[in-house]
Amino acid sequence: MTDTASVLPSPVETETVAADTRAARAALNGLAALLATATVGESRLPADALAEGQDRLTQALGATPAAPNAPEGLPGLAGCGLGGLREPDAPLDLRAHPALIAPLCGLLAAHDGTAVILADALPKGLVPLLETMGAAVQGADHGARPPLSLRGTPTLMVPAMVPEDQPHEPVPLALARLFAGLACPGRTTAALPPTLGGPLADLLAAFGIPVALAPCGARLALTVTGEAETTPASLTADWVTAPPWVRAAQAASTGAITVAIDGPAAAGKGTLARSLADALGLAYLDTGRLYRATGYSVLQAGGDPSDPAAAEQAARSLDTRVLADPALRSEAAGDAASRVAAIPAVRDALLAFQRQFARTPPDGAWGAVLDGRDIGSVVCPSAPVKLFVTASAETRAQRRFLELRDAGQDVIESRILQDMKARDARDSSRGIAPLVPAADAVVLDTSDLDRTEALAAAFALAGDRLRAAGSDVARASMSHTGAS
Ligand code: CDP
Repeated sequence: MTDTASVLPSPVETETVAADTRAARAALNGLAALLATATVGESRLPADALAEGQDRLTQALGATPAAPNAPEGLPGLAGCGLGGLREPDAPLDLRAHPALIAPLCGLLAAHDGTAVILADALPKGLVPLLETMGAAVQGADHGARPPLSLRGTPTLMVPAMVPEDQPHEPVPLALARLFAGLACPGRTTAALPPTLGGPLADLLAAFGIPVALAPCGARLALTVTGEAETTPASLTADWVTAPPWVRAAQAASTGAITVAIDGPAAAGKGTLARSLADALGLAYLDTGRLYRATGYSVLQAGGDPSDPAAAEQAARSLDTRVLADPALRSEAAGDAASRVAAIPAVRDALLAFQRQFARTPPDGAWGAVLDGRDIGSVVCPSAPVKLFVTASAETRAQRRFLELRDAGQDVIESRILQDMKARDARDSSRGIAPLVPAADAVVLDTSDLDRTEALAAAFALAGDRLRAAGSDVARASMSHTGAS
């Protein structure tokens, strides 16, 4: 087999990691400023985080500005800690920062003091939630007419939500509970859209707060452990797209890091895997193309893809230059692929190339994303990040229909659904490397996620895994040195 990565298909248009709107960024940077205020010590924040009145807000709560650091020139903010927040002596003006109202009220609800908040409107349901938790609210008549005077209590009770309710909880209420939970014992979970939940998990982790992420319907369930000792963060201007865990994983990786993405046909894993590779600066291998090229080459020679001898011969003599051939995307090639893929000698012949790619990714990349059916279970069983990307058969058939129709092919959706179910059944029931999630894979259902959200979810879940792997490494090295 020709072992050159440069002949792999060139990237199609890829997605960005997080919704890159100015408002979303401003809200996240505003949360960074709040967390820095609630942390003892000097944090470094992007200039945006302390602009447009957020500096006044943080100072009203007791933080003090610090000189920019060299050479990055990032502004500094010395915070006073969660328990040390000052009772503001003037109303806190949040009229220009509506996204901060709920999380700030959550933080203040757990705090022994009174704050008056100016806002144009209050998020629906916020006042009853604050009261349920034990805070005293005045001035807002439950119809959410600000200003609101909030008296917090150190004995706040944050309501736990049952997981089934979480996908429906309005985002502001989820944020209010989550931020209230930072000051309360135990764990608090909130389900958030991936484009918010992912960066927020990065942000909390950057302040040393233990976080965990898990898929929850079309959202990500973000769990924080309250009463954690927060530590000052250092956030660069691009922290949303290049969060600290990327650099930490890069620095800690002794060999090439592997992200394994498996799942059934048209679950969206190809686009997702390629975009994730781009976002992380990793190489990308679509392993389905190896099977498609093998099956297609048998078909072209007039052979039967189910014939073990013909299929093995095709796999062993595969030239990776054909992987870019658009004909491989046809349903005929897909069908032939799933036939040759059930033959053990074919899988064996293609295994070495895949492992080699993962071990020594092309162009000096610090790792690789491989997508297929058995990457997490067979090809790279020790990959630190394993995602099993799936979607309902109907969603997948519709996606494949649109993909083929846009490519100019004459296709019928019901026929695609039928073929897809047949291919799924063959892939799942075969004796060798069947399509099943690895025991340690995170299952991500993309039925209700668009491409941007699916990428944000995958990026965030990769971060969650790599953060956990990093702390395992840190724990292991501490126990080696005898530290406890
Ligand atoms: O793009 P789509 O999801 O339809 O399929 P693909 O990833 O291109 O893979 C085509 C076929 O190759 C699948 O139906 C599987 O039978 C087989 N395959 C496999 O067995 N193992 C892999 N690692 C990748 C693909």
